[in-house]
Amino acid sequence: MMDTIKTTQTAITSKHLFLRAAAGAETERPPVWLMRQAGRILPQYRALRAKFPDFKVFVKTPEAAAEATIQPVDELGVDAAIIFSDILVVPEAMGLDYEMIEAKGPRFPKVIENQGDVDVLLSGSEAAEQLVYVYEALKITKAALADRVPLIGFAGAPWTIFAYMIEGSGSKTFSKARRMLYVDPVLSHMLLQKITDTTIAYLKHQVAAGADLLQLFDSWAGELPPAHYRAFAVPYLRQICAAIPEVPKTVFAKGAWFALEDLAELPCQVIGLDWNISPEYAKKATGGSKVLQGNLDPCNLYADAATIKKETKAMLQAFGGKHIANLGHGVYPDTPLDGVRVFVDTVRES
Ligand code: CP3
Repeated sequence: MMDTIKTTQTAITSKHLFLRAAAGAETERPPVWLMRQAGRILPQYRALRAKFPDFKVFVKTPEAAAEATIQPVDELGVDAAIIFSDILVVPEAMGLDYEMIEAKGPRFPKVIENQGDVDVLLSGSEAAEQLVYVYEALKITKAALADRVPLIGFAGAPWTIFAYMIEGSGSKTFSKARRMLYVDPVLSHMLLQKITDTTIAYLKHQVAAGADLLQLFDSWAGELPPAHYRAFAVPYLRQICAAIPEVPKTVFAKGAWFALEDLAELPCQVIGLDWNISPEYAKKATGGSKVLQGNLDPCNLYADAATIKKETKAMLQAFGGKHIANLGHGVYPDTPLDGVRVFVDTVRES
């Protein structure tokens, strides 16, 4: 508790708009950044990406990862950088290898099916030691940013990583991962705990390497019934948030409007919102206890400039403070850059 108070006080006096806002301070305007801003939309990113036939080699090249991280800061004028990496480096470090298939997404050749599969996984600091290339990328980025904007570190939330490890890829139903929670809750908790221990060790290294704030991406939160989200997701999010008092934390649980009251009790400072949640509803459900981040529909950025401006202003007004402007999910790869610029500039001029 004392640590959290100290973290919050340090952030409130920060010179950085983003960190002051994350700490709940009143700010002259909301800070703005975009989930998945590193990669996807910039021509500079595509040029850099073209040098690496394999996404995983790119991720494991710290200088290139640092460059991809800084590109959107230079090009768009966002108020924070997010380290270029992926949530799937964690299962890989635990011993479950993945492939990134061009234009399709990730695939795990082998998946977790039974106790034996869980037993052989590395966890905690032993697994986190495999991720030195991420810490190197953070250090290089931090030095190159020269304190222009804060640097966000991140990890997948345990339930989302669990889902990939069981399914082996994205899924329409996530029925294999959801099935596991019913047929073997004991094994499920064992795997979730191993992921959690690894994530804590990993994120502590990220902070030591220069991450100023940590975001947990629970991309598949909306697949679970509320009782299962409460039993199999929230306790692990709580462990992670509580284990790292040194920096502010953001929890982005996509589709989990039903869990906002639970999320509001986590020892984190910021709750990320997807576009299915109205700012009014989110403010009520979280009782004003958290800073809210989000939540413009990413598809709004395909509209004409006047529409983007109008919708962005309406969003800012609806949140009315204690807010970090962002989209409700990652920016889509074919989003026109001009649309992104209108969004960022509208917030900056507010
Ligand atoms: O926010 C950022 O820009 C930082 C970098 C970042 C990437 N992935 C780079 C990436 C972050 C924060 C992620 C998180 C991530 N990865 C999530 C959680 C956020 C979300 O979108 O819900 C998830 C579910 C993944 C898993 C993943 N990685 C998928 C499904 C894919 C394929 C499709 C895609 O582009 O999202 C990836 C690949 C990936 N991760 C790319 C990038 C830039 C595209 C690879 C390429 O350039 O070919």
